[in-house]
Amino acid sequence: MINIAIFASGNGSNAQKIIEHFKGNSLITVQLVLSNNKNAFVLERANNLGVITHVFTRSTFYESKEVLELLGHHKINFIVLAGFMWLIPKYLVKAFHKAIVNIHPALLPKYGGKGMYGDNVHRAVKEAGENESGITIHYVNEAYDEGDTIFQATCEISPSDTAQVIASKVHVLEYQHYPEVIESVIKKSFKNS
Ligand code: GAR
Repeated sequence: MINIAIFASGNGSNAQKIIEHFKGNSLITVQLVLSNNKNAFVLERANNLGVITHVFTRSTFYESKEVLELLGHHKINFIVLAGFMWLIPKYLVKAFHKAIVNIHPALLPKYGGKGMYGDNVHRAVKEAGENESGITIHYVNEAYDEGDTIFQATCEISPSDTAQVIASKVHVLEYQHYPEVIESVIKKSFKNS
């Protein structure tokens, strides 16, 4: 069994789609949802779907091995970031080499890096007058949004689209592709195990 841990900081609509996608899968399961935010709605979603949750603080995450030990305890082999807003520390990148993926709500390398998350991204895309945006699914390394790209999909933007409309077009792409891409990356990565 391949056990996934999802890291999320907020609403968790992607986390929910991913959990639902793998329900009943005999090879891959979402074992844990972790968050840096005790008020994140993702925790409620996970509880409702019967997935164990865990909340950690900044110092726990960056200055201790508690999270790593928890992942070991639950035999986690793969990490999915779904709206997780903190940089992944070195020790996790090292322990999960090519086994952490993220989704970014724009076409990297544009509109990435520190501070570029959620609606900030869609506002920047709108202000720049882009006629398309989209999603980037990529491996995670020690820098924000710089790991190798795995998959991109695009959507058109009309001049009248608000940042909110762009966000909803991007969310449609996220729900449509992220669970499938995760499944295909895992199948390729663990095909001999
Ligand atoms: C998603 O659009 C995701 O791409 C974005 O946060 C949103 C979370 O929504 N992630 C980033 O901006 C990471 N830099 P959700 O909590 O409803 O899944």
